[in-house]
Amino acid sequence: MSEAKRLAGEKAIDYVEDGMIVGVGTGSTVAYFIDALATIRHRIGGAVSSSEQSSERLRAHGIDVLDLNASGPLPLYVDGADECDPHKRLIKGGGAALTREKIIAEASERFVCIIDPAKQVPVLGAFPLPVEVIPMARSLVTREILATTGGQPVWREGVKTDNGNWVLDIHGLSITDPVALEARINQIPGVVSVGLFARRPADVVIVGTPVPTVL
Ligand code: 5RP
Repeated sequence: MSEAKRLAGEKAIDYVEDGMIVGVGTGSTVAYFIDALATIRHRIGGAVSSSEQSSERLRAHGIDVLDLNASGPLPLYVDGADECDPHKRLIKGGGAALTREKIIAEASERFVCIIDPAKQVPVLGAFPLPVEVIPMARSLVTREILATTGGQPVWREGVKTDNGNWVLDIHGLSITDPVALEARINQIPGVVSVGLFARRPADVVIVGTPVPTVL
């Protein structure tokens, strides 16, 4: 599986142009992208990172990590996913970095998603859908999700996001209208963000097949 992740991560370098400030996601597939980015680090303007984990790896490679407020809009964001449907809509947040990932995706002109083939699904939802919540709202949000989505939220105990919040994972969903579900969950008080990337899906998906497939 990691070979597929490596192939996808390295292929994404094709989308990096000289002088770019590159948005960088989080996860094991992105780690391969960061390692490949290091080989052209003198040609880029730096990176905006979606997690402390990725920032650490970027800095270890000598790549400048910039603040999104200072960089302004980005030309490119490269990130992995937990699931990807045929419309390039995604479930993300398995690594609990969904909120910063969503912010950078929104700030970026082009979102290139890098996945191994196992992430491709006809309908999103077999992977439990992550939701970042303000800690005091955990049980309120749990009740609202139970009442309005039909899914079973489970607290990812012991995990704190880089923003100091908690994560619920919604099990048992079959997400036939991801845009509507994203909007519904987003409006529950106490929800910081939901790991559905449907309103702003990926623009390009690279699947790490032996000859990487670009969708
Ligand atoms: C982190 C994410 C990751 O992109 C997702 O979990 C995929 O990770 P990996 O590349 O390790 O399979 O959304 O919050």
